[in-house]
Amino acid sequence: MKKRTLLLLLACSTITVYAQKGKKPQIKIKPRTEFVADLMSKMTLEEKIAQMVQFTADGTITGPKSGTNWVDEIKKGNVGSILNATGVDYTRKIQKMNLDNSRLKIPILFGYDVIHGYKTIFPITLGETASWDLELARKSAEIAAAESAAAGIHWTFAPMVDISRDPRWGRVSEGAGEDTYLGSKMAFARVKGFQGNNLNDLYTVLACTKHFAAYGAAEAGRDYNTVDMSERLLREVYLPPYKATVDAGVGSFMASFNEIAGVPSTGNKWLMNDLLKKEWGFNGFVVTDYTGMNEMIPHGYAKNEQHAGELALKAGIDMDMVGAIYLNDTKKNLQEGKVTMAQIDDACRRVLLAKYDLGLFEDPYRYNEEKREKATIYKKEYLDAALNAANKSMVLLKNSNNVLPLKQSQKVAFVGPLVSDEFNIIGSWAAAGDRNGYAVSVEEGVKHLVKDQSKVSFNKGVEIKDSKRTMMQAALDAAKNADVVVAVMGEFENQSGEAASQVNIDLPGIQKEFLAELKKLGKPVVLVLLNGRPLTLSWENDNMDAILEAWFPGTMGGDAIAQTLYGVNNPSGKLPMTFPRSVGQVPIYYNHKNTGRPYLGTNDPEQKYKSRYTDSENSPLYAFGYGLSYTKFEYSNLKLSSNKLSGSNKITVTVDVKNTGNYDGEEVVQLYVHDVVGSVTRPVKELKGFTKQLIKKGETKTVTFDISADDLRFYNIDMKFVAEPGDFEVFVGGSSDATLKATFELVK
Ligand code: GLC
Repeated sequence: MKKRTLLLLLACSTITVYAQKGKKPQIKIKPRTEFVADLMSKMTLEEKIAQMVQFTADGTITGPKSGTNWVDEIKKGNVGSILNATGVDYTRKIQKMNLDNSRLKIPILFGYDVIHGYKTIFPITLGETASWDLELARKSAEIAAAESAAAGIHWTFAPMVDISRDPRWGRVSEGAGEDTYLGSKMAFARVKGFQGNNLNDLYTVLACTKHFAAYGAAEAGRDYNTVDMSERLLREVYLPPYKATVDAGVGSFMASFNEIAGVPSTGNKWLMNDLLKKEWGFNGFVVTDYTGMNEMIPHGYAKNEQHAGELALKAGIDMDMVGAIYLNDTKKNLQEGKVTMAQIDDACRRVLLAKYDLGLFEDPYRYNEEKREKATIYKKEYLDAALNAANKSMVLLKNSNNVLPLKQSQKVAFVGPLVSDEFNIIGSWAAAGDRNGYAVSVEEGVKHLVKDQSKVSFNKGVEIKDSKRTMMQAALDAAKNADVVVAVMGEFENQSGEAASQVNIDLPGIQKEFLAELKKLGKPVVLVLLNGRPLTLSWENDNMDAILEAWFPGTMGGDAIAQTLYGVNNPSGKLPMTFPRSVGQVPIYYNHKNTGRPYLGTNDPEQKYKSRYTDSENSPLYAFGYGLSYTKFEYSNLKLSSNKLSGSNKITVTVDVKNTGNYDGEEVVQLYVHDVVGSVTRPVKELKGFTKQLIKKGETKTVTFDISADDLRFYNIDMKFVAEPGDFEVFVGGSSDATLKATFELVK
């Protein structure tokens, strides 16, 4: 914490130096296509291939060790891009080494995984999505871009937009959850945040949509595993968020590691060329994921590296991340007629155009200004934005007898392995975020807020994973003397993110055992969760008095958790992903099909021959879109402007939402539609609209949505993207469990 203050003073003292946004570079060069055409006319084959080559510097490790000496390759003029180098100093050194060895002075493109912040770390993306606040998501991406661009980064490998319905997959933490509509809106907002209106702006970065495609549908939630699905499911559920980023003008895509129906994405011509570049009109460039090209050999899709390079280039892959295949085999493939010069030119051109758009040909060092870096990192307004994002991402899952919010007059025992944590709280993929002594822990956040510190105590009690019990008694003793116990528990940050799939998604270690001991004391117990995925919390839900899902809330997480616990922030988050009762229910998601034998619950006259389990309810523990508030919202008066929809008309949906509790609060009002009969079966409901509304206590707001025929389109039996006439049901409420219903008919 102390270090932060010093940094803040430094930032403020030099803030005026670079106050104006995106200073225009002085040098004027030819328009982009002309400039790149001229440049390419002078380039040798080797120089063109170099633009298709990316190696990793020795910063963050984000994949298997590379066998190539990246420094030597730069000195040979063989490298177009470097990832995992950060800071204006280090990137300048590398850029200089490159330009000193580049006959035509072609700058290197620096890429880095700035997923949810560069230095100022925001909630993990799954957590930020729980805010259902698109402007907030755009803003945090804008800030991440500003900090990373000021640190010499040109290109972020984000947003990750992979839909997933499987919490065993650790990478759910990086995405926007299970829903196509919410995921698409968030994807669009994040690209706009990273890229702004002009890539030439000194505070924006090139974004990269990943992982294309359907990486989140890995069988059994096991990372890198097989994906196999109908084209209809692919197009209806998994592809729209990627398409939304093309509509937002994203400048690059990253191919996913997985295969889809037997074809690895890195060699999938239909996916990269026919769909992305032709059908969607994407004119940026596509990079593989880390050695994704080489992995087509173990996939059993490429005979050897040269064959992999041929398949990738033919598929429409423009840059090889770390694989060294384009470097080593493209010339041979050309000479043997396996690839064409036109394919090489197209790949090279796409990369050069991105470098042009970033202004790198005008000044390769334009992002390398120490003063700007110091003035931009950890600006107070950024930290304030991170606190706001963390507050808005909090999801209140349970609050019996209004045990929350806490009062400062209460004696509160804060316990749990993450109660003083400053390392895990910023989550996985936390870029250059500081993990030691910088982020605000829960203990620090409580101490910032609570005036009489004799009222609060802090004891870990147990570790996250190991079964050491030596600290438990001290924590239990502290709890005995308290009015309320707050247990801050969850996962290690590296239990989610890449290569972090789990078959068990319970609270790890002996945390649950410790909770049971705490419960025996007969005091209210509040569970605060720091985790990167939905967990199975049935026992906790039955035995805890309150549960607050805080995700990994980032640099300001401790302040946000304290402000939420003590009512300074009224939690308004809603789950972007279903929380199952047990991992045996997975995959479980709200927009499921009805089946021919839907189980209607305990009132169902047929209890056996129904689509159900004999040892569990079908329903999840917490539904998609669910989240409580310290106040209460009542929905009534659902009306449709008409019960018939035709042609280009719209139906206006209105609903009254009343705040019947004692606090002002924000509510995410959600609109779901059910297409009752189709030429193919349709989900029981689909999110088609949402709006986050501040409703003061006692106030009633009338919320409206419009529905048009376009909103009802799907891939019919002939794979045509159409709306089919027939009956539709509309549900509006504060979660996907909404029951308030109206109906209309779509007529020809
Ligand atoms: C990793 C990840 C990808 C990341 C890339 C570069 O393997 O799959 O998301 O952007 O490598 O770090």
